[in-house]
Amino acid sequence: MLKGKTVIVGVCGGIAAYKVVDVVSRLRKLGAEVEIIMTENAIKFVTPLTFQSISHRPVITDMFKEPEYWDIQHISLAKKADIIVIAPATANIIGKIAGGIADDMLSTVVMAAKAPVLFVPAMNCNMYENPIVQKNIKALTAQGYMFMEPDTGMLAEGTQGKGRLPEPPDIVKEIIRILTVKKDMKGLKVLITAGPTREPIDPVRYISNRSSGKMGYAVAQAAADRGASVRLISGPVSISSPYNVDIVNVLTASEMHAEVMKSYKDFDIIIMVAAVADYKSAEISDIKIKKKDDEMYLKLERNPDILKELGGVKGKRLLVGTCAETNDLLENAKEKLQAKNLDMIVANDVTMEGAGFEAETNIIKIIKRGGKIRELPIMSKLACAHEILNEIMTLGGYIKCL
Ligand code: CTP
Repeated sequence: MLKGKTVIVGVCGGIAAYKVVDVVSRLRKLGAEVEIIMTENAIKFVTPLTFQSISHRPVITDMFKEPEYWDIQHISLAKKADIIVIAPATANIIGKIAGGIADDMLSTVVMAAKAPVLFVPAMNCNMYENPIVQKNIKALTAQGYMFMEPDTGMLAEGTQGKGRLPEPPDIVKEIIRILTVKKDMKGLKVLITAGPTREPIDPVRYISNRSSGKMGYAVAQAAADRGASVRLISGPVSISSPYNVDIVNVLTASEMHAEVMKSYKDFDIIIMVAAVADYKSAEISDIKIKKKDDEMYLKLERNPDILKELGGVKGKRLLVGTCAETNDLLENAKEKLQAKNLDMIVANDVTMEGAGFEAETNIIKIIKRGGKIRELPIMSKLACAHEILNEIMTLGGYIKCL
């Protein structure tokens, strides 16, 4: 799967360094050539010999050691890399690279490289959550560097928290994803909405729906992986953020409406995956509402239909909607396609096993303007996301005039 690919693995000084031995072994088994650079602190945790034995290559530990090759080593390494993976990525290396410091082999190679760089942070949870580290991650992400989120669990110091190195198979999966995905959306700007909206009733209660955000987040991840510049306007969710995506968090349908209408003009493709609440409470109480009678009536009023409004102003932009239904799937989807002036709609029947809200999979039907329908079998939400984007990319006539 990775034959002909060169992966540079930068190992930093953290207890999770030992897990990276397994990552290297898995990459080698998939056919990749793996070059290891260890920082000065990394060799205090795992010996270079361990990595050398697994990678079958000399391990680079010192910038000024007699080089293995006659050429300038950090430049030649940077050139041959298809991807650079920094694992465990410590607060120190993240800070150094964010600050433009290149004072050892790893930071120098990263600075000289044009290949994608994937950071896999692992550190104490307080360190990871430190605003300085978070600011550095945000700044690097904005520059196109990629990050995996640490796992949550027992940390080396015996406390629970977010800071564990993700499991080696997950790291390898991420590397494969980055190396094998086609970049056919490069240059396109895509606006995506995801998740539910939350409509407050009083300070402790709200109206919402069961959307998990997984489908919309998968579409955002897939588009970013394919080279698009992606903004994700997200309702409240509790899933990990996609990498390389500009995320704007909102709570209510009105906030989502305002954000979408503020920015849609800057985008070529708009995909509304959010489950926007159609109604909100007509009045929001400042204080907790107390129970009184046996019955209680809540007056609701309509929220704006964001997609319908976009349909009226879309111009040459491609507009894609989604609908989750329990009955008359195709009829409802076709009606929404017409009524909201869409180019395409993605429909799923949430009553089917494997197509529900919290599921990792989905069963979708894609209906294009003109009536062409494509029915897909059950597949992961990320695979569905790629199929949706494949279909969008076949709307070539539109894409060309963007
Ligand atoms: N949508 C929207 N604004 C709303 C409601 C829906 O932008 N207030 C968008 C959704 O993001 C989705 C599409 O419209 O892309 C269809 O949403 P859905 O809830 O299925 O349809 P509705 O038009 O709300 O119709 P109904 O709830 O009556 O089925």
